[in-house]
Amino acid sequence: MHCTRKLAQDIYWVGADDRRLEKFENLFPIPRGVSYNSYLILDEKTVLLDSADETVGRTFEANVEHLLEGRPLDYLIIQHMEPDHAACIARMAQLYPEMKLLGSAQAGTMLKQFFPLDLSSRFETVKEGDILATGNHTLSFIAAPMVHWPEVLMTYDMATQTLFSADAFGTFGALNGHIFADEVNFDRDWLDDARRYYANIVGKYGGPVQAVLKKAASLQISMIAPLHGPVWRQDLEYILHKYDLWSRCQPETQGVVICYGSMYGNTANAANALACRLGEAGVKDLAVYDLSTTHLSTIMGEIWRASTLVIASPTYNGGLYPPVEALLNDMKALAVQNRRVALIENGSWAPASGRMMRSALEGLKNVTLLESGLTIRSALQESAGEQMEALVKEILAGL
Ligand SMILES: Cc1cc2nc3c(=O)[nH]c(=O)nc-3n(C[C@H](O)[C@H](O)[C@H](O)COP(=O)(O)O)c2cc1C
Ligand SMILES: [Fe+2]
Ligand SMILES: [Fe+2]
Repeated sequence: MHCTRKLAQDIYWVGADDRRLEKFENLFPIPRGVSYNSYLILDEKTVLLDSADETVGRTFEANVEHLLEGRPLDYLIIQHMEPDHAACIARMAQLYPEMKLLGSAQAGTMLKQFFPLDLSSRFETVKEGDILATGNHTLSFIAAPMVHWPEVLMTYDMATQTLFSADAFGTFGALNGHIFADEVNFDRDWLDDARRYYANIVGKYGGPVQAVLKKAASLQISMIAPLHGPVWRQDLEYILHKYDLWSRCQPETQGVVICYGSMYGNTANAANALACRLGEAGVKDLAVYDLSTTHLSTIMGEIWRASTLVIASPTYNGGLYPPVEALLNDMKALAVQNRRVALIENGSWAPASGRMMRSALEGLKNVTLLESGLTIRSALQESAGEQMEALVKEILAGL
């Protein structure tokens, strides 16, 4: 049976959920699943905005077929060529032989790269400012290069003031019958996954996101329809504000995230001792993570949230403990900025992890290293009380 929802006059969600996929992009765990959103406009002309991942292809096809009721499909707008949305393009082209494909010039190039089927005679390049009139609706295109691929287009429907935003404003998490953000408790149940999605998938491209947010500011937007997760039709300021903060890599909360690596528990003990003292001092927004057991994507989401980060690492064969090294590499890869960072180093004969963490963080823009920190020789002793007090004081001073 079909599974669709109406978004607005003539506009329908025809996407599908995947709750079987273990890791998105074969990298990021998605215990709450993921949705691949696709939208169908049934006007004088019929228009599909993006296809779907091949794993949900059959459901997606059935949804489109049901709503078309035998009508031809006139256009497929390709906003994004990443296979989680583009995998079913060739199949749709075969099912709907009259369908024209619209996309950016780079989408046209990628179409040839991804599919053996020659679709070039059916492909039309569209660029920013171009208009597609479908009857009651008028669609205009907005270039969104590097959000988070180069060929990305967003689409704006003037009639309903809907911004089809491609991967921007997307989130991990399958839709559970609810299609709108106002039908769920987004802040409680979705925000962490939305932030984790942003940080890990789009986080590196804050500049391009800022550029597209500036363009969007000149539009009247009543609805934001992303390619993953709930659609926004109320309280748009809430998610626009989050996106503004996230894309500038500005902290959302004045909180402390403590991440440690530890083989035998001594570095973990120092991290916990610090957390206890911060908790005692009244810090409410406080989290402690073991880097060996928490997925890096969760840590990156937390770094995107909080203002202050503490990283604790043993020295390991003259270097950093591998999970800590992975964290620092990811922070560099995603271009983390504007954070305060304190360091805890441990070593039994030649502690080097502090120096190595410091040099790894040096290139990050506006990342301030706290003067206080802990240097541990094997295990933190009670005699380190003063060092600990100074560290707590400096962390508190910046919250
Ligand atoms: C495989 C291995 C390699 C290590 N390499 C170094 C090292 O190069 N320099 C050093 O000072 N300590 C080294 N250590 C010692 C640890 O850094 C030290 O014992 C630390 O207290 C471990 O903290 P933990 O209890 O949190 O695991 C090494 C330990 C292990 C198990
Ligand atoms: Fe994507
Ligand atoms: Fe996507």
